[in-house]
Amino acid sequence: MDRPVTGGLHVGLIMDGNGRWARARGLPRTEGHRRGASAVRRAVEAAPGLGITTLTLYAFSADNWRRPAAEVSTLMSLLESFLVRERARCHRHGVRLAVIGRRDRLSPALNRAIDETERATRDRTRLYLRLAVDYSSRSAILAAAGALTSTEPCDETAFLRRVNRACHSDPQTPPVDLVIRTSGEQRLSDFLLFESAYAELVFLDTLWPDFDGDDMRRAVARFRRRERRYGGLKPRNDDLLTLHGTGPG
Ligand code: FPP
Repeated sequence: MDRPVTGGLHVGLIMDGNGRWARARGLPRTEGHRRGASAVRRAVEAAPGLGITTLTLYAFSADNWRRPAAEVSTLMSLLESFLVRERARCHRHGVRLAVIGRRDRLSPALNRAIDETERATRDRTRLYLRLAVDYSSRSAILAAAGALTSTEPCDETAFLRRVNRACHSDPQTPPVDLVIRTSGEQRLSDFLLFESAYAELVFLDTLWPDFDGDDMRRAVARFRRRERRYGGLKPRNDDLLTLHGTGPG
């Protein structure tokens, strides 16, 4: 369904640090991912109250297939059970839940869970929640660019719609306002590269399994203090006075 999802903030979240969280406790990495899955619910619950209307979570990158088979298998089964378990809850709380990324390398059972969850929640409008699975931003950009024809005009907004389509997203998904990465790492790792052209970046030291509503509030508060100029200049006081009708001329 092509329907605008607009109005509030689009936040992208790179959920990092599950392995380090587990190692610090002498637990297997997979336990870190299990605890990470619980943190997802806390992030989603906090989002609407902070003015977030689109939330994109980086759950499994196209490069994560390089991890050991047992870890990949745990992540895939966590994703499947999340989609199945959260479906009714998302519907009740107005959350449209969707998956972006490639589908052809996912198991038939996971594909079924994705289809059924997307179908069940497609008319919800409080929050558009996207899980990025087998996702590569560069691949989405390449696919969108490859489908361009030389005769068809295409500006940045039209190209964004193409990038969205290329990764199975709602074409109207807006650009990203804020990218948050946990665990102290400071890189984008092939996540929403075109969409984040003017995103603010916030890096938190919290390891993902410890992430909670307060972390989300702190990150959004830091974002709100930033000045977004989109390549322009900071408005001068004179301009503000003129805008408000109290300045000269
Ligand atoms: C990065 O931590 C995290 C991932 C590769 C997977 C993220 C997955 C989850 C949070 C759980 C499943 C998600 C859902 C939506 C149910 P890492 O393993 O690279 O951590 P490290 O850098 O400390 O090793």
